[in-house]
Amino acid sequence: MIPVIAIDGPSASGKGTVAERVARVLGFHYLDSGALYRVTALAARRAGLAPDAAGPLGELAAQLPVRFEGGDIYLSEQVVTDDIRTEDCSREASLVAAVPEVRAGLLVRQRAFRQAPGLVADGRDMGSVVFPDAALKVFLTASAAVRAERRYNQLMNKGIPANMQVLLRDIEARDARDASRAVAPLQQGNALLLDTTHLTIEQAVDQVLSWYAAARPPAS
Ligand code: DC
Repeated sequence: MIPVIAIDGPSASGKGTVAERVARVLGFHYLDSGALYRVTALAARRAGLAPDAAGPLGELAAQLPVRFEGGDIYLSEQVVTDDIRTEDCSREASLVAAVPEVRAGLLVRQRAFRQAPGLVADGRDMGSVVFPDAALKVFLTASAAVRAERRYNQLMNKGIPANMQVLLRDIEARDARDASRAVAPLQQGNALLLDTTHLTIEQAVDQVLSWYAAARPPAS
């Protein structure tokens, strides 16, 4: 069985950075499942689909011409790596992610990332729905204020203008929507809690690695 480390948590918790680094240390593949919802939202906007057009959105998700290559994300032949990180796209992704047909459309695609020697997957339902048999499940979070600050710095580094108050309000609204939706809501479930409010990225990575070392069966 190919091992999976599932890292779920709210927006801007730093789970993407932690997951990517854990994957690099272990030589595992990495799945940024949020990017799939973001690309779906972007493709929907470009196709003129309303965020509640369940049927067409589901089809769009199932057939999404998305590719991850060399650190970039492609929609058809176009690089959309930065386009999917805007606050507009974050909000729209949260809306399409609440559509059951979209989640169903992306399920098989996400499971296809499970390839040897292993996978680190980050999102909201990696441990609960997509990889329920994951070797390790982590719920990675941080206070909303710290997450707003991290998102602010991230956007500034990319030269994208941002306002801290607006970011905090958006993060809280998205948290509420992601946690309260009927399908695959964000929840800790049986995952181990990793609160990174007062941790550095390195400390968070080390914690996940040591949990994984303790969880995985000894090599024979
Ligand atoms: O992790 P992120 O901020 O890039 O996720 C973007 C949106 O997609 C977010 O509103 C929650 C949603 N999402 C989800 O519902 N399930 C996932 N596995 C990953 C993301």
